[in-house]
Amino acid sequence: MNEKQLEMLLNSKILVTGGAGFIGSNLCETLLAKNIDVVCLDNFATGKKENISNFLNHPKFEFIEGDIRNLEDCHKACKGVDYILHQAALGSVPRSINDPITSNEVNVSGFLNMLIAARDANVKRFVYAASSSTYGDSESLPKTEEKIGKPLSPYAVTKYVNEIYADVFNRTYGLNTIGLRYFNVFGRRQDPNGAYAAVIPKFVLQFINHESPQINGDGTFSRDFTYIDNVVQMNLRSLVTDNPQALNNVYNVAYGERTNLNELTSLLKEYLSEYDDAISNISIKYGPERKGDVPHSLASIDKAINLLDYSPEFDIKTGLKEAVKWYWSNLK
Ligand SMILES: NC(=O)c1ccc[n+]([C@@H]2O[C@H](COP(=O)([O-])OP(=O)(O)OC[C@H]3O[C@@H](n4cnc5c(N)ncnc54)[C@H](O)[C@@H]3O)[C@@H](O)[C@H]2O)c1
Repeated sequence: MNEKQLEMLLNSKILVTGGAGFIGSNLCETLLAKNIDVVCLDNFATGKKENISNFLNHPKFEFIEGDIRNLEDCHKACKGVDYILHQAALGSVPRSINDPITSNEVNVSGFLNMLIAARDANVKRFVYAASSSTYGDSESLPKTEEKIGKPLSPYAVTKYVNEIYADVFNRTYGLNTIGLRYFNVFGRRQDPNGAYAAVIPKFVLQFINHESPQINGDGTFSRDFTYIDNVVQMNLRSLVTDNPQALNNVYNVAYGERTNLNELTSLLKEYLSEYDDAISNISIKYGPERKGDVPHSLASIDKAINLLDYSPEFDIKTGLKEAVKWYWSNLK
């Protein structure tokens, strides 16, 4: 970010929805570290007070406890706001398979409420969390933004609908939007607990507790695991870009390399063994494949590089070392 862009943000107020969650709290923290005004809207459905406790008393931070399913809460949160980073949603493919109605209410109706509130508040830009799940059953690798398949889960439907609504709000109301299709994000503050925990924090916690992690399938499924700081970078670039061609687009947010589950588990074991030798002897279990899981996921990041000057700084190994260090000092 150059001086002019930082100056612009210093004179702005940014709403982060889902700011008490994993990605949202990292966005709030980064913006506050730059002394930018931040409003956070969250209902603690999956987010936690401890995620925002470090900056709850920051003079530039305002927290609004509210629900994006409630239009009034959305209007309240958007008051006087210049930019929005919309992260609030119910993540997890299995959660949406178990309870598609609630995922739809939050991820689709809640998203629509936020678009309406953003439009009514005349915000300059609405940047939102989209998802790699939108590639669905498309088998082509790497995934390029213009070629998607059919959704494989209710969650994927909701995230695809977000993109369609954002596009329509641009066409009909002139709202500027950018959609960020995150690919398997990991890093500090991602929740390791609960039935819908993501694989990296879940396995880290199990290793730390000397339990055997279970891989769904034979471990050859692969993902483009993306460290949180790369995601934060893309959000900031989306806020400040003055390239008109960059607006009203969707972008892959990833590192651009894939790692299979067997490789991932070995890396975690290796890095955690540096803290606790006994972890090197923990065996891995294998279970059935999960419904809705795509076999392989790998992003082309060319569009983000070309239009937003994206330059990811953390590859999977560097990111995993950082994440492991954080979990070791926060979970032990
Ligand atoms: N983590 C990933 O790998 C990944 C991948 C693709 C897309 N995404 C998307 O990124 C966004 C953030 O995900 P995350 O991993 O930080 O998840 P998270 O669960 O940690 O954060 C989501 C936040 O939204 C809040 N929230 C949920 N329902 C709400 C509601 N009705 N009203 C207000 N707040 C609500 C939660 O309390 C939580 O703080 C989500 O939109 C998710 O779909 C994440």
